[in-house]
Amino acid sequence: MKLTIIGAGYVGLVSGVGYSSLGNEVTCIDVDENKVRMIAAGVPPIYEQGLEEALSKVLKEKKLSATTAYSSISSADLVFICVGTPSRSDGSIDLKYVESAAEQVGNELRNSEKFVSIVVRSTVIPGTALNVSKIIEGVSGKKHGRDFGIGMVPEFLKEGTALEDFMNPDRIVMGAEDEKTKELLEELHKGFNCPKIHTDSKTAEMVKYASNTFLLTKISFVNELANFCERIGVDAKEVTVAMGLDRRISPHFLNFGAGAGGSCFPKDVKAIMAFEKSMGFQPRILEVVWETNVKQPLRMTELAEAALGKGNLDGKKVCVLGLAFKADTDDMREAASIPIIKELQKRDCKIAAYDPKAMENAKKIFPDISYAASFEDALRGAEVCFIVTEWKEFKRPPPEFKRLMKSPIVIDGRRVLDPLEAKKTGLVYKGIGYGKK
Ligand SMILES: NC(=O)c1ccc[n+]([C@@H]2O[C@H](COP(=O)([O-])OP(=O)(O)OC[C@H]3O[C@@H](n4cnc5c(N)ncnc54)[C@H](O)[C@@H]3O)[C@@H](O)[C@H]2O)c1
Repeated sequence: MKLTIIGAGYVGLVSGVGYSSLGNEVTCIDVDENKVRMIAAGVPPIYEQGLEEALSKVLKEKKLSATTAYSSISSADLVFICVGTPSRSDGSIDLKYVESAAEQVGNELRNSEKFVSIVVRSTVIPGTALNVSKIIEGVSGKKHGRDFGIGMVPEFLKEGTALEDFMNPDRIVMGAEDEKTKELLEELHKGFNCPKIHTDSKTAEMVKYASNTFLLTKISFVNELANFCERIGVDAKEVTVAMGLDRRISPHFLNFGAGAGGSCFPKDVKAIMAFEKSMGFQPRILEVVWETNVKQPLRMTELAEAALGKGNLDGKKVCVLGLAFKADTDDMREAASIPIIKELQKRDCKIAAYDPKAMENAKKIFPDISYAASFEDALRGAEVCFIVTEWKEFKRPPPEFKRLMKSPIVIDGRRVLDPLEAKKTGLVYKGIGYGKK
């Protein structure tokens, strides 16, 4: 099939590479010329495992191309809108990129005879795909159902394993507003071996928010549980492992820590809460989930003060291991490291940070802290070490930590170290959820 993808970011590029590797002919469009140049040269602008190899394969096979021009829209079978949907300052969703992509589609369809189905893939509040249809009708003078189709297919990939998730999804939700779009979506996804759900666009849009808000609810629940376990001398990890063995609960997303970040959870929870409130509905559970998640990163500096004594963190030389919002990505959006570093800056700490992938992105946010060439370098001379991202390399044996640090206080925000082993080597170990002495 011929596909056009508008927006070649995490979702657009990964979907483009995924669909083209399944034999479809894909054109990726982006307004960012530099991104387009990089993609066309086989260099993914984002770090994702396996993406570079897969991209160069589909480029060589001439299955994927990248451009800033919108002309491929009128000859496509399906057009996916994968542009960003950021938050406005009040938390509500900003749909300006989706709307401008819809206008571009309208322009291209004005003089076209072909039936093209437009499918929103960005995470959008319920009713957006129907609004995209109206914009296209207004700009092109064409009629939905007769001249073009409308659909919404939410994307559930996780950064870090994006391509793998795209190729092997748990389910595919296809919201179609007309028969032709439903048929095209069914045909496109016939090679995927997973449950497939056909529904309308509004339901598909809601499924995405329901899934993301439920996952953040699970995380905030275990974060609160972890904070309490610390008080009563219990290791929350033992509690969540036992909890997760209950099949009704499942072990996934029971990882407590320094708070959840990333480009999706915070933005999506804020967007759906604002939408629900605009409809006169009070999302009480989500309000608490949100508040819990915002406070959680500061638990790290509280734990440091518990080890040092109140006020004694001020002015210390500290290191921050891990900046990305999670391991295996260079994405800094809403990363827990951001509020933690801001809090450390407020306390005049001298900060050395290290992340295997995200330092270039971090420098744009924190140009004035120092960055180390390796995690060992970051540890050198530090009086407190904050582990903020669960990169595998931080799991190295604790003697390395003790030897390099000036005073061996480790605040483990992701529970990457074994507390007993860490203590045996003389570290003063404090981990989120670790209440044992
Ligand atoms: N990143 C994730 O893990 C993930 C997972 C599932 C869903 N989503 C959702 O998918 C959407 C996209 O997210 P992302 O992380 O890929 O965003 P992103 O910022 O990485 O990419 C969006 C791209 O769209 C481009 N763009 C904006 N307006 C355009 C236009 N009119 N024409 C062409 N290109 C345009 C931007 O230049 C950018 O490259 C969001 O709604 C997000 O919530 C993201």
